[in-house]
Amino acid sequence: MAPRRSARTGRQQAIKGMTQDVYLTGITTTGTPHIGNYVGAIRPCIAASKDLSVKNYYFLADYHALAKNEDPDKVSRSTLEISAAWMALGLDTEHAIFYRQSDIPEITELTWILTSMTAKGLMNRAHSYKAAVAANEEGGNKDPDKGITMALYSYPILMAADILMFKATKVPVGRDQKQHVEMARDIAQRFNHHYGNVLELPEAVIGDDTAVLAGLDGRKMSKSYNNTIPLFADEKRLRKLIMKIKTNSLEPGEPKDIEGSTLYDMFKAFATPAETSDIEKRYADGIGWGEMKQLLFEYINDHIKPVRNEYERLIADPAIVEQELVKGADRARETAVPYMAQIRDAIGIRKLG
Ligand code: TRP
Repeated sequence: MAPRRSARTGRQQAIKGMTQDVYLTGITTTGTPHIGNYVGAIRPCIAASKDLSVKNYYFLADYHALAKNEDPDKVSRSTLEISAAWMALGLDTEHAIFYRQSDIPEITELTWILTSMTAKGLMNRAHSYKAAVAANEEGGNKDPDKGITMALYSYPILMAADILMFKATKVPVGRDQKQHVEMARDIAQRFNHHYGNVLELPEAVIGDDTAVLAGLDGRKMSKSYNNTIPLFADEKRLRKLIMKIKTNSLEPGEPKDIEGSTLYDMFKAFATPAETSDIEKRYADGIGWGEMKQLLFEYINDHIKPVRNEYERLIADPAIVEQELVKGADRARETAVPYMAQIRDAIGIRKLG
């Protein structure tokens, strides 16, 4: 029987040390890539895309964006901007598979199959759903589910399909998404218990907290706080935003703490260790905040300028980006199509003769 055979193959591979990790992560297509996204997610993923010993899938989660009720033009603009950013920053699309979720119909097909295997109670426990209910209750709404779509409620199932479709073993995500990956694992386990060993069990990989950058107001840089610095803001805007970063009221000449300084953290995220230790000395010597902001602006601007030019070229010519995504989808479907046939067979959705 097919499921048992694949279980045995899996174990044999493990014994021989042959199992190759499959890394997969999605980026919801809401908003414009910002410096926090770059440092926390894009940069480590691009570095990983050059590691030829692992298989990498990166995709644009545009169906997930729907759950957030985004404006259609914003969803498509965000898809272009995020793709162009990853490409301009040097994602190795020969090795990594880079695609758009909505180009893989097998993902939505798998979503329904998994929906049939998912306990409603599991979804009731999702943090994002619970937070939406709590907000309604705090707002004094009679209906705790007011304004909550099924897409928000079932969001973890679509995410499980993203992951399970490509037999991902490692899923790099922020801490806020860890529960979703655990749910994908639970759903896969339940499926396998029922239908045999068909799905691979994934595991979340959580980046370290130092990779979380603060935004203009000192809170975590996030679109929802409206405190971001877009990665490819033009020079003038970049300068203006950096000048807005919150500092304390210490005067030039007074020694300053690097601890809790957004300017310092941002500098460190881009600079070499030697440059960072120079800045540490300047802090101890009492560098003025104005001077530090100017220095940070120049540093980031120099770092980003060549990439920004490439980004702008891609934004001006979306057909290049589209072609890359279509190529990625074709490659992704080389795996998804035959695997879906196997999954359909396992659940009894079969041709009759
Ligand atoms: N929900 C994730 C986020 O908002 C994005 C995402 C969608 C994802 N599907 C995924 C991440 C699959 C990892 C794996 O950040």
